[in-house]
Amino acid sequence: MSAVNSIGIIGAGAMGQGIAQIAAQAGYMVRLFDVREAAITQAQDQLGKIWARQVERGRMSPEQVQQAQTNLIACTDLAQMSDVDLVVEAIVENLTVKQDLFKQLESIVSDTCILASNTSSLSITAIAQACEKPNRVAGFHFFNPVALMKVVEVIEGLRTDSSVCDQLVIIAKKMGHTPVRAKDMPGFIVNHAGRPMNIEGLKIAQEQVADFATVDAIMREQAGFRMGPFELMDLTALDVSHPVMESIYNQFYQEPRFRPSPITAVRYAGGILGRKTGEGFYRYVDGQKQLPETLPAPEHKAGLKVWLAPLHPEGYARAHALLSTLDIVLLETEEAPDDALIVVTPYGEDVATVVANFGLDAARTVALDTAFGLETGRRRVVMRSLLTDDAWTESAVALFASDGTEVSVIEDSAGFVAQRLVASIVNGACDIAQQGIATAEDIDTAVSLGLGYPHGGPLSVGDHVGGDLLLEILQSMQFVTGDMRYRPSLWLQRRVQLGVSLRTTR
Ligand code: NAI
Repeated sequence: MSAVNSIGIIGAGAMGQGIAQIAAQAGYMVRLFDVREAAITQAQDQLGKIWARQVERGRMSPEQVQQAQTNLIACTDLAQMSDVDLVVEAIVENLTVKQDLFKQLESIVSDTCILASNTSSLSITAIAQACEKPNRVAGFHFFNPVALMKVVEVIEGLRTDSSVCDQLVIIAKKMGHTPVRAKDMPGFIVNHAGRPMNIEGLKIAQEQVADFATVDAIMREQAGFRMGPFELMDLTALDVSHPVMESIYNQFYQEPRFRPSPITAVRYAGGILGRKTGEGFYRYVDGQKQLPETLPAPEHKAGLKVWLAPLHPEGYARAHALLSTLDIVLLETEEAPDDALIVVTPYGEDVATVVANFGLDAARTVALDTAFGLETGRRRVVMRSLLTDDAWTESAVALFASDGTEVSVIEDSAGFVAQRLVASIVNGACDIAQQGIATAEDIDTAVSLGLGYPHGGPLSVGDHVGGDLLLEILQSMQFVTGDMRYRPSLWLQRRVQLGVSLRTTR
């Protein structure tokens, strides 16, 4: 396959404009076409402004901008694509329209020209099916905004020559982006790996475990993610994310892990879409997210008697280390005395199950989530059962906030909030690896660059939290709820059984 020097971009909307920008900046000769001439003019105007700002900020020299502008040629006729080496299509997300365009392109471009689609939800193999040479059709999936989201998925359809994808990898790098390779499966890597965060967040809300703001705060300040599920859905807007949730669920034939929620269906139908409509899971006033008022933690009373249940070795050790530093009377008796707060530290179980299994006094029992560490400043989560007395819950909050750390109280839930969300995220990534959709390394790279997950991606998050603990959380959640969405991926199970990193491949 010959080297690529010129790139045709079809569709001058949000994505086409961004791809044109980075291609022209990288020195490619770019031809930009759209059925609407106004879209091309608008894209050129926008790029003019973006480049002017780059010069102002010292990020590009006037000469570089001049060169990029010269590299970018607006086209009013598709026939002007006749001598490009690569076409990147970024038109409306509709299979028949894309297939028609690809068919038409084949009659215009040279035999060696690569045809790539920026589709986020359609099958590359299905688009290529309309072509005489499906082996030159691949996916080149950028993210919005293209110039800032430095990752691109290179997707191999069932008939794509792998040399075509090799070329796209080189081009992506020249454009300053990190390429990751994916098989032609629904959602590719990033949109697939991103499902569990939203879906499990919605399930938690649907079960009345915690309100939206509490779930988000826990994901940020306990689990260390940049955003929680509801902030994220408000940003992407439900007219995008709800149909994606339904589409991925159906494309995987009602896989329970991807089961969408009626919460977003109702909001989507009602136009309560997120930031852009001023109202989503949060209200926005002048673009500012409105948060529910939070009360200061109650005052801790020194001398509180606490009995820590020795039921989970890891959880017990972590909670014991914290409690030893706080101003309490920590009781080490075999059974819980009648006048002590009972603290349990489950992994994947709810308080009701622990209370029932070990015959504890429900009124005095709270659970503490120990899975993400308990150091001062990291939000702590206290979970209560439906029988926990308010006074004992208050004592627990006062205790765990007594070193100045924020505490959230949640209702009974198998796996608290963060255990559920993080275990689901890691399990989802493991299943992408198990299906061979991408390598473990590319999954981590794609998700860390595409979604900003911590620790370098979801499989590394799994190693950080501990594969064995996550497996235990998933098994317990499945046992307590009976829901198959929590069944552990074989990828996770085998790596835990063999005692190796979740990134280990043969
Ligand atoms: P957009 O609506 O902003 O732009 C699409 C452009 O394509 C419009 O200017 C339209 O006039 C033009 N167009 C429609 N049919 C055409 C045809 N037959 N020939 C030439 N031009 C045609 O859409 P956007 O957001 O740029 O998306 C484009 C593609 O990129 C879609 O496949 C979408 O799924 C995908 N994508 C979108 C992302 C996003 O966040 N917006 C992210 C990643 C992929």
